[in-house]
Amino acid sequence: MRYTPVLSVGRERRRIHAPNVLSIIFFLLGCTMLAMSSYRSSKSGPVCGRSMLGTDVHMDVASGQMMQGQGLTGMAQSSQQHMVQFVVAGNYVPIRDALKIDLPTATKEVAYHARATLDDSSVGRMNSSKYPSAEGRDDLYEPGDLDAGIKLFIGITSDCCSNLAQEKRNAIRATWKQKIEREHGGVDIKFFLSQPGPDRYDKVVKMLEDESAENGDMIFVRGLDTYGNLKFKVFGMFKFASSSPKEYTHVLKTDDDCYVRMPLLLEAIKGEDGKPIMRNLYGGCQENPDGFKLIRDPKSKWFMPYEEFPDDVGKQLDGLKYLAGWGYIMSRDVMLYVVWKWLSFRAHPEQAPPWFSNFQWEDVIMGYLVEQKGVKLKEHDGFKAAWRSCSNNTAVRHLDIDAPSLVRGLYEQEVSKVWIKKTVQCNSLIFKPGDYDHWRAVRNEVLPAGAHV
Ligand SMILES: *[C@@H]1O[C@H](CO)[C@@H](O)[C@H](O)[C@H]1NC(C)=O
Ligand SMILES: *[C@@H]1O[C@H](CO)[C@@H](O)[C@H](O)[C@H]1NC(C)=O
Repeated sequence: MRYTPVLSVGRERRRIHAPNVLSIIFFLLGCTMLAMSSYRSSKSGPVCGRSMLGTDVHMDVASGQMMQGQGLTGMAQSSQQHMVQFVVAGNYVPIRDALKIDLPTATKEVAYHARATLDDSSVGRMNSSKYPSAEGRDDLYEPGDLDAGIKLFIGITSDCCSNLAQEKRNAIRATWKQKIEREHGGVDIKFFLSQPGPDRYDKVVKMLEDESAENGDMIFVRGLDTYGNLKFKVFGMFKFASSSPKEYTHVLKTDDDCYVRMPLLLEAIKGEDGKPIMRNLYGGCQENPDGFKLIRDPKSKWFMPYEEFPDDVGKQLDGLKYLAGWGYIMSRDVMLYVVWKWLSFRAHPEQAPPWFSNFQWEDVIMGYLVEQKGVKLKEHDGFKAAWRSCSNNTAVRHLDIDAPSLVRGLYEQEVSKVWIKKTVQCNSLIFKPGDYDHWRAVRNEVLPAGAHV
């Protein structure tokens, strides 16, 4: 999304067209980082401790219930072979084929394989020899023993097909992602994209193929890459993380317009005893303190029509507490539980609440599923919404429309240790810090009319 950044000069807020000091600094930092990253990628061999996909992950697909090519089939891409592991472990197809939305999927064998995968000890002894019914079967879940050490999976949702999304991924790769990979052995970071669909396929296939071959950090979740399908991408991410033999202890779900600082994230998941919380953790930022609000205004991005969600159904969602989708962390037991519950509801829709199948917001669904486990969300000040400041305890910051332009500048502030000492600038908009309404108004002013991002 192109927009004109707004910066303050004296007390006056004005649109800038000529470069000013800050943008020159960011530009120079950007150039330095670009130069550094192209230097890095021109060298051969693994970069920044990246693990080879296709060997350390395995695949699973959703139940036979998955239809209309909209499901959760994961596709793990191997940078070495320029192929993706598709559906059955060891079965590789070229990435350009895997990106085709009509590539045949769920055969009986595939569905069987998915169950076998989920049955496997690698998903924390989740006993689902057949897809369990959701009713009263919480006993099926057993988390197993977790090591004291943290093995974190960071899944970043990203759009398949826009140049801006690719810019965001590259900015993240050049900054916080490579820093975390360099400094923390137990962390894996992947981008999650869905499929382009026939109308966009030709335009993007080469771009995705090249990017994927170069970076080896993209996972393609089956289904059309649309905002409405985001929930499939996110649950695909959790299925992917749960089925990895690495047995991650925690998973952070974030978006490609966020900045993550690992040491502060580790701080943020500590309990009162100073030790990391290994169980029953669902932590992040509750942007709506009163929970979910049913919106009946057709002009709103969050509009819910009466036909699909009549009042009695909609009321069940009103006030539901959830953590904002741009950044939340879960312990393994919570992740396994929500994956299991999600699969159960997909396999047995009659046991899901009536709003479940039509409802699209993944973060609210997550809040609901976690609540079913009896786990309370944990707010932490280190998770910063886009209208908050970037104080020194920032673990995950939602940059919103300022991504990716500010990422490289923030990285410089992080590595130079300025950010750990003080609050740094992380907005190009000028608004009253912490004031959502003011932020929203200023933001909407700079966005082109009708833009919803
Ligand atoms: C899994 O569940 C089935 C049916 O509920 C049961 O017969 C079986 O013993 C369980 N397996 C394990 C490993 O607990
Ligand atoms: C943030 O800065 C304050 C004051 O300079 C300092 O006391 C505090 O320890 C810093 N926080 C972190 C997480 O480093």
